[in-house]
Amino acid sequence: MERSLSMELVRVTEAAALKSARWMGRGKKEEADDAATSAMRDVFDTIPMKGTVVIGEGEMDEAPMLYIGEKLGNGYGPRVDVAVDPLEGTNIVANGTWNALAVIAIADHGQLLHAPDMYMDKIAVGPESVGKIDINATVADNLKAVAEAKGKDVEDVVATILDRKRHQQLIHEIRDAGARIKLISDGDVAAAINTAFDDTGVDILFGSGGAPEGVLAAVALKCLGGEIQGKLLPANDDELDRCIRMGIEDVNKVLYMEDFVGGEDAIFAATGVTDGELLQGVQFKGQKATTQTLVMRAKSGTVRFIDGDHSLKKKPNLVIK
Ligand code: FBP
Repeated sequence: MERSLSMELVRVTEAAALKSARWMGRGKKEEADDAATSAMRDVFDTIPMKGTVVIGEGEMDEAPMLYIGEKLGNGYGPRVDVAVDPLEGTNIVANGTWNALAVIAIADHGQLLHAPDMYMDKIAVGPESVGKIDINATVADNLKAVAEAKGKDVEDVVATILDRKRHQQLIHEIRDAGARIKLISDGDVAAAINTAFDDTGVDILFGSGGAPEGVLAAVALKCLGGEIQGKLLPANDDELDRCIRMGIEDVNKVLYMEDFVGGEDAIFAATGVTDGELLQGVQFKGQKATTQTLVMRAKSGTVRFIDGDHSLKKKPNLVIK
């Protein structure tokens, strides 16, 4: 995989963030998502790669763009699997709240989990706690393990979890074990990434969210030296069939890092759409707009924060071909 692809991917997530941020706080999540998707799609054509979408906006018959199986790139360069979430946190943008991202991840062809669009139970941590967590262990044991790994008391461990009815029991168990909780309205990709950055104040992610988002988080954590484990949660026979069709025969299997993303290399890029603990969201300043992007590569372990200053006059459509 060419290292210069990292910068190309930044252009993709920046464009998606810039377009969708125009919808921030307007209460229109679909419009925000469509804007991000079409902006991403436009920039992809300029990128030197032979990409295939494995995590995208849906199956071919349900998504006009970035559908699973769609070919991306200008047809030259490395053959890669592509996972995209043009707008991770559609409600966040609609409501103008925290941590919406435009996200892309690539890995060598055949190395990304083809995760069906259903719920997945997840547990994720940053580098210090790698190898210490177990999705099948109790919440209390996992919190204790993270506390030990990070050299602090369980009382000082902060877990993050989507604020959902289905998590009531889990929330209860976390609090019973003595840890503190940061409830989030949406956006468990950002939440998983935050566990790998001390300054975010978050140590562990628990709970179920989208399986595709699990793959994106796994690529990010691979680059950061963290860990995610997951278990698919098919809700009915149809979802069970879908798992099998996508090549996952044992749906009860715990998915580890190497199941989510194999091989040595992968690249992850995310641009903030709205402000978050890690990334500032898009700011429009007259003829200019600013972005902040996290881009990382697994092979080199390089983590970069890139500030973008965009001339909306010179580049009104965000892409110069
Ligand atoms: P969208 O961007 O598709 O709205 O997803 C946001 C999100 O919060 C994800 O981060 C998370 O994995 C999933 O939705 C959780 O699903 P649900 O809202 O059904 O609990």
